[in-house]
Amino acid sequence: MSKPKLFSTHVLYDGPRRLLAELFDVEYWSENGRPARAELLKRVAGKDALVCLLTEKVDAELLDAAGPNLRIVANVAVGYDNIDVPACTARKVAVSNTPGVLDETTADFTWTLLMAVARRLVEGDRLARSGGWLQWNFDLLCGTDIWGKTLGIIGLGRIGRAVARRASGFRMRVIYNSTSRAPAEIEREFNAEYLTQDQVLQQADFVSLHVPLNQKTHGLIGPAELRMMKHTAFLINTTRGPVVQEAALVEALDQGVIAGAALDVYEREPLISDGLRRDNVVLAPHLGSASIETRTKMAMIAAENAVAFFQGRRPPTILNPEVWGQN
Ligand code: DGY
Repeated sequence: MSKPKLFSTHVLYDGPRRLLAELFDVEYWSENGRPARAELLKRVAGKDALVCLLTEKVDAELLDAAGPNLRIVANVAVGYDNIDVPACTARKVAVSNTPGVLDETTADFTWTLLMAVARRLVEGDRLARSGGWLQWNFDLLCGTDIWGKTLGIIGLGRIGRAVARRASGFRMRVIYNSTSRAPAEIEREFNAEYLTQDQVLQQADFVSLHVPLNQKTHGLIGPAELRMMKHTAFLINTTRGPVVQEAALVEALDQGVIAGAALDVYEREPLISDGLRRDNVVLAPHLGSASIETRTKMAMIAAENAVAFFQGRRPPTILNPEVWGQN
């Protein structure tokens, strides 16, 4: 009997590759860079399963190109704003993501950014390697203390909590806002104080965003929100670019409305507004979950979802369980 056909838009790692090979006839995108849209539409045609990254837009056009055999789309990311889940559900195509395994790694990176912007690490690195550092001086690249300050978290989900936990080592006050208030034991565990979003913006020295991108959070941080922040505060974004109105952020930085920002994500990735290329902004190319350990786990979860589906088991991290059993 022929094996179901799977297209994976990345070669992934050995472990997930071995798992997929047991069940599928797998075709990998093995070129450097991401497949162009036309190539993706061509490669997905006639496939039974798709393993994709957040760079692949899975919409009605792609589902049409894939044709009626497609049964599961396994996204190798926790965020799934690249996938039109209702369109998949309407065609009884299961969708899965990779929750849980990247929380600590993304929290580490959030702190990497926060510390880098507060202590001007990137400016210091540039100076040190340029040969332009001629002598130690008392006021050279003085930054901002982190310890003892107030960390404001917007979105106290798994990643937000992992970020909050790390703040205790810095003896920080942690304030948060989330769609719903966390249970008292969670607030105690993470030493986090629930406030309105406006209060978080007004009181925090560092505002870190951890909401998923959806219709409600699109453009969540705009001119009015930035104006609520302290002039000395920093904005950290490791979730999705469109949560912040990038033009408003550039304007706020131009006008000194906030002290700086550290960004891993952008409104139109991989494009970055010119106005963000400044000393008081640390820029990273969407690296939040980019450790080999975590990326391996993410790829493994995606592979397990695809395998489970074709073995007649419920995919462990299915996003649209209503399609399960309908096939
Ligand atoms: C995700 O998983 O959503 C991250 O942005 C990339 O790993």
